Amino acid sequence: MRYSHKSLFLILGIINSAQADIQAGLTEHFKKWLSDNKYDTFNFNRDDIIGGSFGGKQSDTDVIKNRPIIFVHGNSDVAVGVDDWKIGYTQTIQYLLSHGYTQQELYATTWGNGNYSLSGLETHDKKRIMYLRPFFEAVLAYTKADKIDVVTHSMGVTLTRRVIKGGKIDIAEEQYDVGTPLTAKVDTFISLAGGNQGILECAVKLGETWCNSDNGYYPAPPYKNDGPSKYHQLLNSDGIREGDHVFALLSLKDMRMTSNDPQFGMKTGVFPTVDESYIFSTEAYSHLCLRDLTAPLILHLIENRTMKDFNFDTMFQSGLTCKYPTPYVIQ
Ligand SMILES: *[C@@H]1O[C@H](CO)[C@@H](O)[C@H](O)[C@H]1NC(C)=O
Ligand SMILES: *[C@@H]1O[C@H](CO)[C@@H](O)[C@H](O)[C@H]1NC(C)=O
Repeated sequence: MRYSHKSLFLILGIINSAQADIQAGLTEHFKKWLSDNKYDTFNFNRDDIIGGSFGGKQSDTDVIKNRPIIFVHGNSDVAVGVDDWKIGYTQTIQYLLSHGYTQQELYATTWGNGNYSLSGLETHDKKRIMYLRPFFEAVLAYTKADKIDVVTHSMGVTLTRRVIKGGKIDIAEEQYDVGTPLTAKVDTFISLAGGNQGILECAVKLGETWCNSDNGYYPAPPYKNDGPSKYHQLLNSDGIREGDHVFALLSLKDMRMTSNDPQFGMKTGVFPTVDESYIFSTEAYSHLCLRDLTAPLILHLIENRTMKDFNFDTMFQSGLTCKYPTPYVIQ
């Protein structure tokens, strides 16, 4: 053994502070239900990754009081991770747990590799959509909820919009049927830092999978006259809603989505079915901090279905912090 006690202690310390109140992984009860209901093959528990999933009841007698929430992370992130910036929804879930929610009302899995070295290979393809869709169906069936709420970040926004809209996809090499729309099952849909018109940096990275013009972040005009991608065009034109109430939060200091072109950033952060949106404009609200700091607003939107009466000054009084303000760069 080459590891000293000191370094082991340090590693455990980091894990503990990032996931203070969180019991990562699906509960034994939910895992058994998934197995009994033929969901085994998906490995929604993602035990190959630390913090690869979250949620579930402890026992049959648990009572679900709040509308369950499903969280969908962005490219290379993980559900409730511990590694550097890849902490997923750890902070938002901690906040909700301390505001009346329980583990059986909060669900997340990891839909990708959770490895930034492979981020260029992640895109809006059948593999990702048809992994998330059965996860949504499983949570709905398991919780027996009439409706759920959905919180999405970055690539999670544009993947989940299709998961909810359903329908038949016929793009390039891929033909598949997502199923009937889940719109009636979603009360509130929240988008954080989405790229609904592609990402402008993709205009010069066409060789990378995540930027491709079929189902990648190939950008809309003025960057590419025939953009965005076929996948994004369909997403923005079919008119099917993502839920009863649809909100988008974006930031002018989002280096990933808005970077050097605020006009484009404001376009790509929203989509036709959005009811209300809010544009943050300070460095505190980077691409990752939109994920980490917005829990008070998320809770407000879920309870009140409008942000018109939300006092944005209270956001920083919640005690939430974000270690990745602009110009933090993901490595
Ligand atoms: C991430 O992917 C790279 C490239 O394939 C690989 O070398 C590395 O081992 C992976 N990291 C982990 C933690 O799996
Ligand atoms: C919902 O709105 C009411 C009235 O404005 C407010 O008192 C309450 O705090 C809001 N809920 C949340 C979670 O912010």
